[in-house]
Amino acid sequence: MPIAVFDSGVGGISVLKNLVEVMPHEDFIYYGDSANAPYGTKTLEQVRALTLEHARQLLEEQHAKGLVVACNTATSAAVRILREKYPDIPIVGIEPAVKPAMLFMKNPTVLVMATPMTIREEKLKKLMDRYKSLGKIIPLPCPGLMNFVERGDLYGDDVRQYLEELLYSYSHDEIDAVVLGCTHYPFVRRMIQDVLGDKVRVFDGGNGTAREMKRRLKEKNLLTESMEAGTVDFQNSLTGEQHEAKIQLCKQLFNKEI
Ligand code: DGL
Repeated sequence: MPIAVFDSGVGGISVLKNLVEVMPHEDFIYYGDSANAPYGTKTLEQVRALTLEHARQLLEEQHAKGLVVACNTATSAAVRILREKYPDIPIVGIEPAVKPAMLFMKNPTVLVMATPMTIREEKLKKLMDRYKSLGKIIPLPCPGLMNFVERGDLYGDDVRQYLEELLYSYSHDEIDAVVLGCTHYPFVRRMIQDVLGDKVRVFDGGNGTAREMKRRLKEKNLLTESMEAGTVDFQNSLTGEQHEAKIQLCKQLFNKEI
C-alpha cells in the first residue's frame, strides 16, 4: 500500500524528496490540487473542505496506508479534523520549522515566511508563542510567491524582483534565520538566500516531517518489507494538456537539487 502525500500544488514535492530519502523502499502517491491552488489566499473553510475531500479520496478510494499533509496551509486548516476522522491511520502534517530556527543560536531574529492563511491561523500563533521568549520572531505573509514555483519559474528576474521587494526591509537587518513556512518555498531557497545574504540560516520542515511519518508507520508495523526501490505516482487535479504539463513539472522538480 502506498503513502499519500498531499499539497495544494507542486510545493509538497520538496517534502516528498525527504520522504523518499528516509523511506526509499516505500511507494508514494503525490497528489497536487493545482486546479484549486493557491490555498494560502483562500478562507479557512474553503481550504478545510478541499483538504478533507482529497484526503478522503486518497485514504478511502486509493487506500493509502498513511497521509502526509505536505502543505502548511492545509495542515493548519484540517489536520486536527483529519486525525479525528481517521484515528487509526498515520497522518502527519508539516508545520513551519520555528523550533530548530529558535534553538540554533542564542537570541536569534527569525523571519517566518508563509502564506497569508498560515500566518493568520491559530496554529502558527501558538507555535510562535511557545518560542518567542528565545528571541525575536517576525511573521511575513508572502502572497503570490507560490505562483512562481507552480509555473516552474525558479530563477527568473520576476521572482528575484518579487523577493527583493518583499525582503528589502530585512536584507540589511540583523536577520539570523529564515523559516520556509510553505512547502513551495524550498524551490526558491537559493534566490531567497541570495537576496538575504549567505550568513542567514534557512530552515524548512521537510526532513522532520518525513522522519515523523516513518516513526508513525513503524509504530503501527506498516513499513514495507520490500527491499526494491519504491515508486512515485504523480497525480494532479488539473485536466487535459494542463494536467500533462503539470505532471512533467512535478517530475522535473522531484529530480532537482534543492
Ligand atoms: N504549499 C502550501 C503551503 O505549504 C501553500 C501554497 C498555496 O498557497 O497553495 O502552505
